Amino acid sequence: MKCLFPVAGYGTRFLPATKAQPKEMLPILTKPLIQYGVEEALEAGMKNIAFVTGRGKRAIEDHFDVTYELEDQISGTSKEGQLDSIRELIDQCTFSYTRQTHMRGLGDAILTGETLIGDQPFGVILADDLCVGEPDGVMLQMVRVYEKYRCSVVAVEEVPVAEVDKYGIISGLQLDAHHIRVERMVEKPAPQDAPSNLAVIGRYILTPDIFEILRNTLPGKNGEVQLTDALQTQAKEGRVIAYRFKGRRFDCGNVEGFVAATNFFFNP
Ligand code: UTP
Repeated sequence: MKCLFPVAGYGTRFLPATKAQPKEMLPILTKPLIQYGVEEALEAGMKNIAFVTGRGKRAIEDHFDVTYELEDQISGTSKEGQLDSIRELIDQCTFSYTRQTHMRGLGDAILTGETLIGDQPFGVILADDLCVGEPDGVMLQMVRVYEKYRCSVVAVEEVPVAEVDKYGIISGLQLDAHHIRVERMVEKPAPQDAPSNLAVIGRYILTPDIFEILRNTLPGKNGEVQLTDALQTQAKEGRVIAYRFKGRRFDCGNVEGFVAATNFFFNP
């Protein structure tokens, strides 16, 4: 399976830090957010990494490439080992890139990635949701769910009712403690309209028919093509499983979650 990383967003909640650098390159300790995401994909067996980038995101391409001058400089010194984790990814994965020219939302970003993915199921990781799986990574857990149900899979967790308007919210048929067959998905509902408090976080496995559905999905909230709307089309046919993952998620797209993740990794 390939893994798609939509990284074209502006990251406005982190301005001015994200004025001239991608949000995904902000570090939790010494490792950028995007590297945690790619490590999670590789753990799940996804070695073909596809990025949907945009203007100002070149640093991501450079991060997943060899830096000869630097490597030569620190070769044989005590600092050499600090590049081991990124070298391992560069050795084991392939990286491909395409650009989203207009920020038309997550659904549009995923449709832009079709050219890199082709006609096969694929993972999607939003790197600003940093996940710590217990014990296995969240994407690896989701691959197992996919292997059982053979349809799209979304990772969900309970959120406070007051915060449902920040997420896609699902409801459906509870199959067991960890699996729900999704019947309804609503993007950023008001608390009184939300079908539950189960929120979709930034981990998906999508079947490739999602591309045709996205092509026919009109822009929804904020004039953006919403992935949630396309998933609702699959859900109506019983083809989406929501998975309550084992582990923790940090929303590193906002400052509070970013600090919580930093503290967690500094003192796990
Ligand atoms: P966010 O909603 O977090 O938006 O996007 P953002 O632009 O990154 O950050 P803020 O809200 O301005 O601070 C969720 C994910 O979808 C990607 C983003 O890069 C992020 O990983 N995305 C969003 C795109 O790739 N393209 C889009 O048009 C929108």
